[in-house]
Amino acid sequence: MKKVRLLATAAMGLEALVAREVKELGYTDVIVENGKVMFDADVSAIPRLNLWLRTADRVKVIVGEFEAKTFDDLFEQTKALNWEDYIPEDGAFPVIGKSVKSKLYSVPDCQRLVKKAVAEKLKQKHGVAINMPETGAMYKIEVALLKDKVTLTLDSSGTGLHKRGYRLRQGEAPLKETLAAALVMLTNWKADYPLVDLFCGSGTILIEAALIGQNIAPGFNREFASESWDFVPQTLWDQAFDEAEKLANYDQPLDITGTDLDPKMIEIARDNAIEAGLSDLITFKQMQARDFHPKKDNGYLITNPPYGERLNEEEEVKQMYRDLGKSMALNSTWSSYVLTSHEQFEKLFGMKATKKRKLFNGFIKVDYYQYFGKHNK
Ligand SMILES: C[S@@+](CC[C@H](N)C(=O)[O-])C[C@H]1O[C@@H](n2cnc3c(N)ncnc32)[C@H](O)[C@@H]1O
Repeated sequence: MKKVRLLATAAMGLEALVAREVKELGYTDVIVENGKVMFDADVSAIPRLNLWLRTADRVKVIVGEFEAKTFDDLFEQTKALNWEDYIPEDGAFPVIGKSVKSKLYSVPDCQRLVKKAVAEKLKQKHGVAINMPETGAMYKIEVALLKDKVTLTLDSSGTGLHKRGYRLRQGEAPLKETLAAALVMLTNWKADYPLVDLFCGSGTILIEAALIGQNIAPGFNREFASESWDFVPQTLWDQAFDEAEKLANYDQPLDITGTDLDPKMIEIARDNAIEAGLSDLITFKQMQARDFHPKKDNGYLITNPPYGERLNEEEEVKQMYRDLGKSMALNSTWSSYVLTSHEQFEKLFGMKATKKRKLFNGFIKVDYYQYFGKHNK
């Protein structure tokens, strides 16, 4: 089977988690750098990774890596790569680019040059006389320069992997599905413990938790650019989907609850859970967070409350954090995991976190405050 070098891209702070997922899928010699995780695999990894990775943004195929300080260098080395092994005669190959701390800083020029080099190589190899038709499947090329090192990739995912397909509507500040999955995976929650999000918004954390709890592949209900690629045979996609179907544990009972002050958000979250096919597994209820009185022990609160960044909500948010701290203190078997950018969170919550982890919610710097309940210590 054809060997490929792959690159799973990750949001800042999630690289180690993406690497863990890649290793759990059976791939080894994984290299972790800022925003990316790289490894060799055979081509069957493309369907499997796209289907299963919960915290990565995209899966890309590395066609070549080299150093280039002049446009000639870039052109010649790009042309020397075996593009014809990946892109067929009718393949469409738009080029996007980025350049950081490199001599070749003009991204439009780099893109134009790469386009020309790839087109020349493909014409030569496929024996096309004038222009490549580009009427077939999509092979989006990225030319990425970092300190004069060029990485040329093909995007196998298409739409970013955070788009699972279930989020029909969302509120004002929804979490990316990949970050929501990461928040759950950073806890010790297991499918047989209760899980609650008291500020559930459109339900992202809970839906991701239910997918994790029943071991459902997050990409099961969407499509990927590489499903139309010639060098990834359809049989490999069929095998990957069969494997996902076999590994899903639809009989796993779950105790997952979402509450929110806003009835509209509860309606949205419910619709999203229905779309994800998980509506029987998640209970939604309109409620003030401070009215939380769990009936069971050993539960997990995993939540992304408002951060109080708008002046008019700051006081209200401070009081909410105080109330939340009091309510969780009364339930010592429960673990609390709270994502916020609020610098005084621990003081307001009334406890120092057992662990803290720096993350980014989009461009907002946040901390993930983790309080381990009695059974979780
Ligand atoms: C940042 S959003 C959560 C977004 C969610 N994680 C998602 O992915 O859609 C915060 C939510 O907290 C809710 N909220 C604000 N104050 C609340 C309170 N006192 N009790 C319960 N929910 C509250 C808001 O209605 C909003 O939906």
